Amino acid sequence: MLGGKIRIGIVGSGGMAGNHAKNFAHDDVGELVAIASRNTGTGLDLAQKCNARFVPNWQEMVQQEDLDGIVVCTANDSHGEIVIASLEHDKHVFTEYPLARSLEEGKIAAAIAISKQKVLRVSHSEPVLETHQAIRQEIEHLGQLLVASFLRLTPGRGGRPEVLFNLRVSGPPAHFFIYHIYPVVDLFGQAKWVEANAIYNDLTDSEGYDQFVNTVTVGFKDGGIGHWTWAGGIEIQSAEQHHRYVLDGGTLVNSGEGWQVSTRSGIESITPISVQHSSVVDLWLSEVLDNNLAAAQIDTAKALDAIHISLLAEKAMQKNRRVPILF
Ligand SMILES: NC(=O)c1ccc[n+]([C@@H]2O[C@H](COP(=O)([O-])OP(=O)(O)OC[C@H]3O[C@@H](n4cnc5c(N)ncnc54)[C@H](OP(=O)(O)O)[C@@H]3O)[C@@H](O)[C@H]2O)c1
Repeated sequence: MLGGKIRIGIVGSGGMAGNHAKNFAHDDVGELVAIASRNTGTGLDLAQKCNARFVPNWQEMVQQEDLDGIVVCTANDSHGEIVIASLEHDKHVFTEYPLARSLEEGKIAAAIAISKQKVLRVSHSEPVLETHQAIRQEIEHLGQLLVASFLRLTPGRGGRPEVLFNLRVSGPPAHFFIYHIYPVVDLFGQAKWVEANAIYNDLTDSEGYDQFVNTVTVGFKDGGIGHWTWAGGIEIQSAEQHHRYVLDGGTLVNSGEGWQVSTRSGIESITPISVQHSSVVDLWLSEVLDNNLAAAQIDTAKALDAIHISLLAEKAMQKNRRVPILF
């Protein structure tokens, strides 16, 4: 750290890299120093805009000694490898979700962060989301989980990155929609088994597709069922999603108009509770600055629990049977 600022290198030069670069421009704690991109056009352009140096590949950048932290903004299939290499070179790491495309890489990343005493955070923002923290408080008084269910329908029209609907690069929807699984794991803990089904329409040899349905069901270690349904590329005017957390003492519901809790005494809206950090990057930077590893280690373990579900769901879809989750 130079002059108290955490010196950052970003890997990638697409949408998320641009967002992070813009935010670092106004950050008092982090300073963007370098952009590594295999795409010279977008990489040079972004580096120039942010007054950062351009590095033609991430393998070179993670070795550079004037960097304290690496922010990984590449497609899903490269996160694990870049996270591991960055940690091995003694960098703190912030990675866009999912933590990794394989469980093996995810486990190695989590273990190296601990052995190297580095702060590794995945971009799951629930630790800094006021409503999520309020839900956590609420469910503490509602007893045992019966079922947590989630449904999302996404229209086919409109632009979407091609890499998203691609099994090899992004994983199945259960994996690239990991940000619907993580919050449930954060609230209800690890799963002990997973069942899953999938339909991919117009699947090509390069594993791209146009329409999909993924369903995933888990049994939580602490009791209760979790269930997710995603359908994408479908004929619906606009995206919709529905959450239901049914506990034996009450039910939390959100169908797009905000969270409500329903108990014997009636229905109430969930009131957000205030949190300290404005974003998960902000939280990561403060942890790096204070060398505060504990909360990030717990959170990385949850991100790993979440990809246990999405990646073993992929296995369950392939094998067409229930798969136990062994930790
Ligand atoms: N936190 C959030 O709210 C949020 C929102 C959207 C996405 N995400 C996550 O953020 C990540 C990036 O998404 P995005 O929308 O920014 O994607 P994007 O616009 O497609 O950008 C991806 C960037 O990574 C580069 N890249 C891809 N694979 C690479 C590899 N194997 N090695 C080196 N560079 C590689 C691409 O280079 P090329 O130009 O050469 O392909 C491009 O510069 C994804 O993992 C996604 O899940 C998070």
